[in-house]
Amino acid sequence: MEEERVLNSQELPEDSSLGGDLRPKDLSGYIGQKAVVDNLKIFIAAAKKNDRPLDHLLLAGPPGLGKTTLSQIIANEMGVKMFSTSGPVIEKKGDLAGLLTPLQSGDVLFIDEIHRLNPAVEESLYPAMEDFRFDIMLGQGREANSVQIGIEPFTLIGATTKTGLLSSPLRDRFQIVFRMDYYAVEDLETIVKRSSKILNIKIDEGGALEIARRSRGTPRIANRILKRVRDFALVEGNGCIDTKIAKYALDKMEIDEDGLDQMDRTILMTIIDSFRGGPVGIEAIAASVSEERRTLEDVYEPYLIKSGFIARTAKGRMVTQKTLDKFNVSPKELQRSLF
Ligand code: ADE
Repeated sequence: MEEERVLNSQELPEDSSLGGDLRPKDLSGYIGQKAVVDNLKIFIAAAKKNDRPLDHLLLAGPPGLGKTTLSQIIANEMGVKMFSTSGPVIEKKGDLAGLLTPLQSGDVLFIDEIHRLNPAVEESLYPAMEDFRFDIMLGQGREANSVQIGIEPFTLIGATTKTGLLSSPLRDRFQIVFRMDYYAVEDLETIVKRSSKILNIKIDEGGALEIARRSRGTPRIANRILKRVRDFALVEGNGCIDTKIAKYALDKMEIDEDGLDQMDRTILMTIIDSFRGGPVGIEAIAASVSEERRTLEDVYEPYLIKSGFIARTAKGRMVTQKTLDKFNVSPKELQRSLF
């Protein structure tokens, strides 16, 4: 069973059902994240000039910003293969050995959610990263012997939604660290237009802008919304996405002007109604909205903080004035809300 799970997470198919066809294949097609892309171009060019693998690289940032896409692009630009897996899937040292030993010189090993590696596996990754060496124990008890296996020089690309959760020995072993941030509306607009072209969807400037504005800074969401708005345009409109049908479809999908969905609003209203606006701990919120703490922390909270609806304090999460204004709640009502 375990082996099968590791094997399943091998090489990414070129055209994955997650919308692989929408993913740019090289840096020239990659939109946004300018600081990251500009630096990356230099590091890739330098590595190629010296004919060596790219240094190990850590990509941090919220989900859906294109960390996997960027990693595949790096492999393509370097002219090597990428093998893809995820932290929690690598359960034992042996699983990691199975991923490292087939790598050819320069290949990329992509580990998503690298902050969730189990500590024993993480420790065995250190010599692999530093000296391209993997230590295994053969035999047991007094007879046990440590044997070193050489592996080809490779590039580890780690992705994490939480740099804070990465142990410092692991973080220190990445020579390049990039933080990816939410995309600007203009960049999302360009991404929506690019995706529309690929998917043969008719869209005007207003339609693209409306989708971009409500995609919470995230290309994955923009592409998902685009396909659904296209459905509305086909069935209830004239097939072309303009401002009117985009607004109509987004309202129907209960994605509001701020890009918040039903769950975002439930979280905010729960903090207001059940906890007098906070401060409240994440566990209490998770229990109240019946969602996993990790999902709240990784998926919902970062955007709510970034867009100024939630503030994180030492005592817990609080809603902001912006949230009270959004829901027309006065400070007086907040005082009363528990009773
Ligand atoms: N699709 C998803 N992310 C993208 C990006 N950054 N540029 C172009 N297309 C994308």
